[in-house]
Amino acid sequence: MLKPFSIRRSALALLSASCAFFSSVAISPSQAAVAGDSAQTTAPWWQHAVFYEIYPRSFKDSNGDGIGDINGITSKLDYLHDLGVDALWLTPCYPSPQVDFGYDISDYCAIAPEYGTMADFDRLVAEAKKRNIKIIMDFVVNHTSDKHPWFLASKSSKDDPKRDWYIWRDGKNGGPPNNWQSLFGHSAWKLDPKTNQYYYHFFYAEQPDLNWRNPELKKAMMDVASFWLKRGVAGFRLDAVGCLFEDPQVRDNPVLPGTNAFGDPNTEFKYNDHYPEVHDVMRELRAVLDNFAGADHPVLIGETSGSDVKAISAMYGANLDEIQLPMNFFFAYLNKRSAAEFRKLIAQWDANPAGGWPLYFFSNHDQIRHYIRYGDGVHNDAIAKLMAAMLLTIRGTPLMYYGEEIGEENNDPKKVEDVFDPIGKIGWPKEKGRDGERTPMQWNAGEHAGFSTAKPWLTPPESYRTHNVAEESKDPHSILNFYKSLIKLRKEGPFKSGQYEPINTSDPNVLAYLRKDENDNALVALNFSDKEQDFKPLDANGKPIGILALQKVLLKSDTGSGDTKDWYQGDDTIKMPAFGVFIAKMESLSKQ
Ligand code: GLC
Repeated sequence: MLKPFSIRRSALALLSASCAFFSSVAISPSQAAVAGDSAQTTAPWWQHAVFYEIYPRSFKDSNGDGIGDINGITSKLDYLHDLGVDALWLTPCYPSPQVDFGYDISDYCAIAPEYGTMADFDRLVAEAKKRNIKIIMDFVVNHTSDKHPWFLASKSSKDDPKRDWYIWRDGKNGGPPNNWQSLFGHSAWKLDPKTNQYYYHFFYAEQPDLNWRNPELKKAMMDVASFWLKRGVAGFRLDAVGCLFEDPQVRDNPVLPGTNAFGDPNTEFKYNDHYPEVHDVMRELRAVLDNFAGADHPVLIGETSGSDVKAISAMYGANLDEIQLPMNFFFAYLNKRSAAEFRKLIAQWDANPAGGWPLYFFSNHDQIRHYIRYGDGVHNDAIAKLMAAMLLTIRGTPLMYYGEEIGEENNDPKKVEDVFDPIGKIGWPKEKGRDGERTPMQWNAGEHAGFSTAKPWLTPPESYRTHNVAEESKDPHSILNFYKSLIKLRKEGPFKSGQYEPINTSDPNVLAYLRKDENDNALVALNFSDKEQDFKPLDANGKPIGILALQKVLLKSDTGSGDTKDWYQGDDTIKMPAFGVFIAKMESLSKQ
């Protein structure tokens, strides 16, 4: 059964709906041509890399306290290398009161004691490097913790030199300055009784927003970036980057019909999202990264929330000089297993107006895991393979979420008393929070899924007994081994950077496309339906791509049965099992 999106997901979607209002970056056609030239041989490393998100608290516990840590990650680098991933994005592991599980930072330039030491971190970077794996840090640019020394100073008095590092305003008519709401529920303003002013927080009240219009603050943040780049990190995932600036006049946001999961009136995020000044800051940050240029030029991945093509595309920068890989949430928000919908979304982003290189993902620490979102309860493993095949063969950089390679599913809290994530407490039962998608990585079928010797901070789902690394490593037909084959495949031939050319575009069941570069062509056919399909691939001229054009079947799924029958029929038709995957190398189309 498809699980409906929680209200939190709708709130994020709403956020994106407002993006169009402010985004108007013009893209020059010449820049678009350069960026679109995917066949260039000097493509930067991040275009070919497979990225893998790790939630450190939940990946591997090395010291038996039930919480994952840096040394735990280091101990699993061989596994990650064997899987084939090239770069790890670590969600925040800095000192933090953990109100938002690390997204409330109290020191940007240190490692939280519960996750280890700076020496452990340096060892992780060095050991990862030995295995050609890069480390990407999460850079929370929009806000700090309310316990950060900067905020404590800012709050201490109206005259403090750091007062202006945050957004302070007088109240209005005995209440907050305006109707802006926090994405995490209720007013986005909190009164500080001592100085009798309100501070702005787009997320929790414990996460005051920084004022990027203050030059000293901006410099301090750029210094943070340099600090980590000097330690050898290969870039950043910029948290909530669209929310960096707000309307200086703090005008009320338009009110929409209805109420949200927190019982507040719905509002459009018109005056506090994707404000144009964000582009200036992104260019400056890119310039900081440019100081570390070379073969391994660092990368910026942006949490540019939403699904507004124009707004997210603008985050590449008018001269492709801002975020190299803005995240679109197209797949994350699509709660429907539909060939037609995916075809539309891929086509949209493949032709994004900036001509920027695409990044795709299904799941992360804020989204219900896609094993559950797309699973039908009967063919879940086959569907997980189908989705993996799409993610890893379309044109663009894939971003995986730890555990998706073993078919890890959500384990949402059953009672409000069990909830850790504050939005699950505020929004229960409509909003259960994000604990469900953050449960421990499932390493084996033993106690605590092999994650820890102690009771883990969150409980893995029961399915860990079958869906875990140890069991799946032994099974040639497992989801894990399918991911490994796909990752290996995408490092070769046209999957790396070849063009994406959709075929049979009116087929409601089979999503199919060609990947082409000067040397290679490949056909990918993905059966999104639960029925066997007779699929006849056609080229751009409507001519069947027959068996003669296929040199070699590169990969096909067994849909769990181990069946290896030859799918190609006599009449240029491929018999595709329910949720089947068929990938074949083709002879050059010009030779046909
Ligand atoms: C981002 C993070 C999310 C966090 C929020 C506030 O959306 O992905 O986990 O709660 O920012 O920092």
